[in-house]
Amino acid sequence: MCGIVGYIGYEQAGPFLLEGLQTLEYRGYDSAGVCLNDGSELIVKKAKGKLKVLRELTNEGNDLKGTVGIGHTRWATHGEPSDVNAHPHLSESGRFAVVHNGIIENYQQLKDSLTAKGIEFRSKTDTEVIAQLIEYYYKGDLVDTIIKVLGRLDGSYALGVISQENPDEIIAVRKESPLIIGLGENENYLASDVTAILARTRTIYRLENDEIAILSRDGVKIINTDKDPVEKQTETVDWDVNAAKKGGYEHFMFKEIMEQPKAISDTIAPRIRDGRVVLDEIGLSAEELKKFNKINILACGSAYHVGVVAKYIFEKMLRIPVEADLASEFRYRDPIINDKTLTIVISQSGETADTKEAMKEAQRRGSHVISVVNVVGSAIAAESDDVIYTWAGPEIAVATTKAYSTQLAVIYLMALYFGDMLGTIVPDEYKALVNELEQLPEKIEAVLENKERIQYLASKFFNSRDVFFIGRNIDYALSLEGSLKLKEISYIHSEAYAAGELKHGTISLIEEGTPVIALATHEELIGKIVSNIEEVKTRGANVMCIACDTHKELEGIGETVFIPKVCDMLLPSLAVIPLQLFAYYVASLKGCDIDQPRNLAKSVTVE
Ligand code: G6P
Repeated sequence: MCGIVGYIGYEQAGPFLLEGLQTLEYRGYDSAGVCLNDGSELIVKKAKGKLKVLRELTNEGNDLKGTVGIGHTRWATHGEPSDVNAHPHLSESGRFAVVHNGIIENYQQLKDSLTAKGIEFRSKTDTEVIAQLIEYYYKGDLVDTIIKVLGRLDGSYALGVISQENPDEIIAVRKESPLIIGLGENENYLASDVTAILARTRTIYRLENDEIAILSRDGVKIINTDKDPVEKQTETVDWDVNAAKKGGYEHFMFKEIMEQPKAISDTIAPRIRDGRVVLDEIGLSAEELKKFNKINILACGSAYHVGVVAKYIFEKMLRIPVEADLASEFRYRDPIINDKTLTIVISQSGETADTKEAMKEAQRRGSHVISVVNVVGSAIAAESDDVIYTWAGPEIAVATTKAYSTQLAVIYLMALYFGDMLGTIVPDEYKALVNELEQLPEKIEAVLENKERIQYLASKFFNSRDVFFIGRNIDYALSLEGSLKLKEISYIHSEAYAAGELKHGTISLIEEGTPVIALATHEELIGKIVSNIEEVKTRGANVMCIACDTHKELEGIGETVFIPKVCDMLLPSLAVIPLQLFAYYVASLKGCDIDQPRNLAKSVTVE
């Protein structure tokens, strides 16, 4: 969602602010803006729409004067996307400027009380109340003022504040919304996301709730809301700077699809030692594990789809009931969960508001939480009991691919690790599965090589209005992800259906020429899915089928794409590749904005 950058140093801030905002584009936004102190006043430039508009308006930032500034990409919540609602927001007199990620829940009350005092608001945003409150309380010390303002705010925030009177400082503070400080030489940076400053520095402070950072050119001071100094360790970010660049590819999504063999290998390899899965990150003994009588998986979006795959795998291999739950639903339904439930939380960003709150709810009810997270140090990683990182590296395209795949890889590792501890997997099976898991990256490589075939099929289907995905068992779980990928980036309506459920309703929507993508990889149920394919073909469907190369008889059942045969548990990792590529090529043929689909945000930090 929204993104923050800030710069204070000896260079002109404009070009860096624009550069930083560009790296944050992937998070999803609908307007952007910057504010610089030019030595005598605060100058704001902001514009609705893509960053391109702001870049043109400011000549790539070169027309902006000043060595201190803040910038923002806004994803509208309060107030429509518009120039005036874009951040930064100024106080009434223009002496203070604020950028804000998060939501101020009591903004209407605050706004009403300030309006009653004669203060005029320009925008419809919740953020403007912060700028107005700062001016209202200001008596000469900006830090004191901000501390006072924080006491009046309910909700979540990451804030960057600059003032007209002090061109030598940026003040930053956060609560429930990430904010990091980058340390450079004679210059320092502010960002909501490490990718914004990766090209400049690897040394960062990660602010905790209610810590206030005072950035100057020569240093950064961190204090708490009592103004006591906070001793913090710096962190070194080891993400490759090129990982956040397109590297010759037209789209991040395609690059990230192609990176999957490496991402999976990076996630799996360090955790298999001498033929055994080692998950040192999990602090549970076999005795503790045995006391759980249920596994509860919480996530949103694609991460939830990983949870649905995990349900099939865990129940089969661990013989424990598993519930995969949408985090946004779980929170508000008085869930039945206690210290006998093991909770697994899955999130690429580690910041998704619904997932984070659902996790807290599970913890409140006594459940032990293991998180599966990609972004190191993110809130979910920090607050869960154990964290297993997916080593996917930065994922920039809004539609997830490599993060989804590495999450699946962690699920396989957990199934083997827990199965071994619980004694539900026999040694021969365990050995064979570990062996196959180690070969997974190579097999994915082989599927990726077949991309031209998928490109050809995309050209046959890209004009469709509706597409149906069907599958059974693990193939059904995967079809949920295939369908989501297609609709999020190509805007084609699609539905994922459990193939056995078709006859109970959806089949009435199948007519001459309706595309149906049938997943037919799950060995035990081939006969059943073939019958379902025949049912839709009889009604005119145009079938594309994904099957294992051991079932060549499916060649003529439709337009069939073969993947290498692997054990059932690992099939989703191979079968998802053609689905990702299909969505990508269809969206490309339709000329869609693949990396930043309309209305979507990479990391959804509000409910
Ligand atoms: C957003 C993204 C999805 C993602 C979901 C969960 O909706 O657009 O791609 O799957 O959030 O994100 P998380 O960071 O928690 O995995």
